Amino acid sequence: MAQQHTPSGHEKIETSNVLMIVLILVAVAFGGLVEIVPLFFQRSTTQPVEGLKPYTPLQLAGRDIYIREGCYNCHSQMVRPFRAEALRYGQLSVAGESVYDHPFQWGSKRTGPDLHRVGGKYSDEWHRTHLINPRDLVPESNMPAYPWLVTGQVDPADMAPRMKALQRLGVPYTDAEIAAAGEAVKGKAEIDALIAYLQVLGTARK
Ligand code: HEC
Repeated sequence: MAQQHTPSGHEKIETSNVLMIVLILVAVAFGGLVEIVPLFFQRSTTQPVEGLKPYTPLQLAGRDIYIREGCYNCHSQMVRPFRAEALRYGQLSVAGESVYDHPFQWGSKRTGPDLHRVGGKYSDEWHRTHLINPRDLVPESNMPAYPWLVTGQVDPADMAPRMKALQRLGVPYTDAEIAAAGEAVKGKAEIDALIAYLQVLGTARK
């Protein structure tokens, strides 16, 4: 009679579903931590690049509208380190440009072009016309129209709490800036805020 085979070592792991799953999770978690944890302490990912300024209240309101409207579903904000990207969009993005962004808008979905270096590329008037109806400027565009941004108003009472939250996360807003924020956006249409935001994108290193 053949002797029964008792698995040992690696064979034991490979023949037990539970052990295999648990050990894979441990290995993947360890590998992930080794890659991610150092980024929390690296200068290049934690320090702002020279010339980077926190968003003004109007720009910040615009950023919140950008997120609310889901612009990130079609637009990334990261010029990746490839020659073709640099030729099309301009200077490559670096992490230090996003340290005041909570959450960052890097993204990977590109139905439309990357927007990280769009600041200063067009006039405010261009953006206004484009946002109200993209087809007026780019006939083949499939970007949605956002006409309600013209009548929508930025709520001044919203700004201080938002800036306080960012201050807590390390964005260097002073208390005086936060106190004056409501006044800075008073009477502004949402489209003005969004354009102010688009116009500052990527300009710290341009
Ligand atoms: C359904 C996908 C889609 C969504 C959502 C979308 N876009 Fe676009 N966007 C496009 C496409 C496609 C283009 C290229 C054609 C054009 O210029 O209209 C574009 C172009 C642009 C451009 C010009 C970029 C350049 O370098 O020429 C800007 C600026 C822009 N979009 C801003 C926005 C903003 C702000 C929002 C949110 C309010 C938004 N987009 C939402 C698809 C989208």
